[in-house]
Amino acid sequence: MKTFLITGASSGIGAEVARQAVAAGYRVALAARSRDKLDSLVEELGGPQRAIAISCDVSDLADQEAMVAETLEAFGSIDVAFANAGLGTTAPGTEHGDPENWREMILTNIYGCILTARVCLPHVRAAKGWIVLTGSRAGRVTLKGSVYGATKWAVTGYGQNLREELAGTGTRVMLLEPGMVDTPFFDTPKPQALTAGDVARALIFAVTQPPHVDIPELLIVPTPPVE
Ligand SMILES: NC(=O)c1ccc[n+]([C@@H]2O[C@H](COP(=O)([O-])OP(=O)(O)OC[C@H]3O[C@@H](n4cnc5c(N)ncnc54)[C@H](OP(=O)(O)O)[C@@H]3O)[C@@H](O)[C@H]2O)c1
Repeated sequence: MKTFLITGASSGIGAEVARQAVAAGYRVALAARSRDKLDSLVEELGGPQRAIAISCDVSDLADQEAMVAETLEAFGSIDVAFANAGLGTTAPGTEHGDPENWREMILTNIYGCILTARVCLPHVRAAKGWIVLTGSRAGRVTLKGSVYGATKWAVTGYGQNLREELAGTGTRVMLLEPGMVDTPFFDTPKPQALTAGDVARALIFAVTQPPHVDIPELLIVPTPPVE
């Protein structure tokens, strides 16, 4: 049975990918800071034979190293590493944005993502598996004043560079680039957006392709409303 490691698994896209990964036959290692939510998800997914909860702040290298050690101890391999933890801004733009929020966001969205790739890399490489980075449509287009978007441009650039670093190893690197998804990322419901289930379905489709099929980018957005 293959192992799917997910950061940011306590909520939104990460939690839904965990559900669909288990349904697709994976064991899942669930990492985030909210241990209570992870423990509930482990129970929902059938307990420690199928899922484990790992307390991890992705901006902390020691936490991420421990995350990998716990995953290997429980399941013995990492076939898919999904660097998904992330957060947005508390106030828009540069003039009115909050520098402390930017620091946390940059450390989570960029540094945390790169650390996840780094600590998982030898194991994913051994499995000839996937490293999936959650970028965003916001990392492909210009969004007026968006510091969040800039963190996702960094993820886009890093993902492309990592892909080059791993070319010829059989390891695949995918940038997952959702448009708006209705998750707790936002304070209010987004009825016109994708659901986390929509994103998870596409991602599971992608990582279950045979070894000769590579999918460098997965851009998934809501269909524009019919006029
Ligand atoms: N929703 C959208 O429209 C959208 C669109 C494109 C891309 N994305 C990206 O998709 C990813 C998931 O977002 P979501 O929409 O599913 O939002 P969400 O429901 O708020 O989930 C964010 C997840 O990240 C975790 N997280 C945040 N900071 C962390 C840290 N320092 N260490 C470990 N985990 C941390 C949170 O867990 P804890 O708080 O428990 O640690 C939570 O599990 C993010 O990278 C986001 O930027 C979202």
